[in-house]
Amino acid sequence: MYTDLLLHDMGSGLSDGLKEFQAQPEDWRTSPLIGIGEHLKSGGSLLHDGRAKTIEEAILWHEGEAISARDNYLLLKPEHKTLLQSFIKNL
Ligand code: HEM
Repeated sequence: MYTDLLLHDMGSGLSDGLKEFQAQPEDWRTSPLIGIGEHLKSGGSLLHDGRAKTIEEAILWHEGEAISARDNYLLLKPEHKTLLQSFIKNL
């Protein structure tokens, strides 16, 4: 499924300002990445509020506990970024 289905503190950029039960406003559950390519092809968007239109945009919104994922992505060479995006699109 390529997810841990757990809640993660994703930082203030993704906060919706609402606390729900135990979840803080910046906590989001990792969504399964499987089928993401089809979802995008059929006009779908990403992240809990659909603000990201591409895989790259979704990655760049990772902050909080996931900031190292974003920073590591930013360090990739352009061709490796493209490879990672195609890998995810084909899950
Ligand atoms: C190579 C590393 C990573 C990649 C390529 C990646 C990619 C993605 C993508 C493409 C999405 C959008 C999924 C969708 O909306 O259907 C997403 C969402 C998410 N990711 Fe990651 N991710 C990575 C690492 C991490 C890490 C390390 C964490 C947590 C510690 C994390 C937590 C989340 C959460 C909570 C969401 C949902 C956020 C929301 O709905 O607003 N990710 N990720």
